[in-house]
Amino acid sequence: MGTKLIIDTDPGIDDAFALALAALSTDVDLLGVTTVFGNVSLEATTRNARRILELCGRPDVPVAAGAARPLVHPQAERAAHVHGEDGLSGLSDTLPEPTRALEPSDAVSLLVSLLEAAEEPVTIAPIGPLTNIALLLAAHPHVKPKIARIVIMGGGLGTGNTTPAAEFNIYSDPEAARRVLVDEDVPCVLVPLEITHRCAVSTAWLGELAASGPLGATLEKLTASYQKLYHDELGLDGIVLHDAVAVAEAIKPGLLRTEAYPIEVDCGHGPARGATVADRRPGRRAGTTVEVAVDTDLDGLREFLLTRLAGTR
Ligand code: BDR
Ligand code: CA
Repeated sequence: MGTKLIIDTDPGIDDAFALALAALSTDVDLLGVTTVFGNVSLEATTRNARRILELCGRPDVPVAAGAARPLVHPQAERAAHVHGEDGLSGLSDTLPEPTRALEPSDAVSLLVSLLEAAEEPVTIAPIGPLTNIALLLAAHPHVKPKIARIVIMGGGLGTGNTTPAAEFNIYSDPEAARRVLVDEDVPCVLVPLEITHRCAVSTAWLGELAASGPLGATLEKLTASYQKLYHDELGLDGIVLHDAVAVAEAIKPGLLRTEAYPIEVDCGHGPARGATVADRRPGRRAGTTVEVAVDTDLDGLREFLLTRLAGTR
């Protein structure tokens, strides 16, 4: 029954859209959702993930909470100024309370049990800091053959959004990101800032979503302060749905065009901490490579997101 998928997330407004995208897609078998600290605290991200699934009518999807902090060093900064103190623009409490209990097991245990039970390879879409995924691969390498791909929202090829060099998810736990992207041999797709920004959706697109029905209207409402931020900081008439772009690729492999590059993650404590460095020199692609998303049919991608979030597919 379609793509087997697990999302690891820190909602987050764009995470909410990404979760809804998977939850509403009839060709996705959403096996579970695991949560991680990131945009806001683990407690808040877990609450938000469960509420979004309830909003989407998916109490069948198990949710387990994972890491509350990075592997080695404290998180340098959260993103409440982007997503609101509660992670959802101050509107988390207006969402439906979850009817399904939080899993008693932790995120890594849920990942292991879902992967062990899977009869076909599973795609994992991490759209927050990579802490849970690094722990999974480090402590439970026997599940690696069960992983089809890890499709990650994170990094930048020449820019950052949290520091001049680093993107938020990677910067939040560079040691974990390095473990996943550099030290492991599981197929990874990295969806960096350059492509997510090019896939920005307009206020007209958001208007169409809002008009599609109560669910679309609720999702659109979550974006009011996010819209203002993108307008004030980037002069954008719309928003960047970073995580939804990655989950779109997880759902429909090949939606984004990728190129394979060796990647390094700067784990030093200088100005480049958390930077993802892709070796794009011609002829230097030996060793472990990561498929980096570089292009897509932009309007096609926006249409894909809209039809699925509007529930017309
Ligand atoms: C990433 O950072 C978070 O704030 C978003 O949810 C997204 O996962 C973008 O850099
Ligand atoms: Ca996120």
